[in-house]
Amino acid sequence: MTGGDRKGTHINKILASAAEALGIPLGTGSIRIALEHEELSYLFNLRSEAPTVPIFGNIGAVQLAHCDWSKLNRLVEQLKFSALAVHCNPGQELFQEEGDRDFRGIKDKLAAFIAQAPFPVIVKETGFGFAPDELAFLASIGARYIDVAGKGGANWILIEGWRSGTIDAAYEFADWGYSTAEMLEKSPKQGILLASGGIRTAHDVIVALGLGAVACGIALPIFRAVLSGGTAGVIEYVSQLAATVKKKMFLAGCKSVQELSRPGVIEKNPDVGLTQWTIIRTL
Ligand SMILES: Cc1cc2nc3c(=O)[nH]c(=O)nc-3n(C[C@H](O)[C@H](O)[C@H](O)COP(=O)(O)O)c2cc1C
Repeated sequence: MTGGDRKGTHINKILASAAEALGIPLGTGSIRIALEHEELSYLFNLRSEAPTVPIFGNIGAVQLAHCDWSKLNRLVEQLKFSALAVHCNPGQELFQEEGDRDFRGIKDKLAAFIAQAPFPVIVKETGFGFAPDELAFLASIGARYIDVAGKGGANWILIEGWRSGTIDAAYEFADWGYSTAEMLEKSPKQGILLASGGIRTAHDVIVALGLGAVACGIALPIFRAVLSGGTAGVIEYVSQLAATVKKKMFLAGCKSVQELSRPGVIEKNPDVGLTQWTIIRTL
């Protein structure tokens, strides 16, 4: 989620220690600053806190299109990242005052980057999800790992609108994008799907796994757990969530994540009632 300055590095080290204790992967925030200033790459060096769990580095698709790939490949190797996540965040770039808005040729560059990358590449959104044709495109260019990162959780247009004083325009995008469940349900299932975006409860985790995701990612609640309880706070939050997931799996008669996709384990509720209504998050 973060990194690149003292505070971000401190948070990353907390996240890394918690991830190692829990035995779960961790994704950093964008490593752009380390690309532009190689002397700052140490800020993303998390292997002393998390020597064994997978760590995913992160870079924006817009920045990827315009940077030196040999430098980027070297950085991923130096930092001992297990994979690189490339984030697509056009909504955020539009509302961020200092956003990069030159989107020309991004799809071709992404395809070429994946073809030459000596490590696994995860392509992810950042909270608005991918359109069905985009999901198919990503699978077609060999993005074996796609994090759908749908709407329903952190909304970066609202955050940037709030930061830049354009919150009224940003509110028009309060419900923008594709929901995590919708994408998982409709995806061509060619790539390996990861689910993030609004995953908050054990119920969300089980439904996402039942719809075919191989793993779930959580950002905002973990960030809040860091701020309120540090490493112990994150361990407590994730442990509680995992324990509840296991209880629900037991009661649903499922011994493995794979069994969650069995017909009849989860089904769409025809009487959606209140859940059809959206509560706008103001953060
Ligand atoms: C504090 C914070 C920082 C984030 N920074 C990044 C980032 O640098 N790169 C990225 O791909 N996503 C970033 N995200 C987006 C998350 O990866 C995720 O896609 C999004 O927040 C939706 O998940 P959530 O609903 O669990 O928060 C960030 C999210 C948060 C809350």
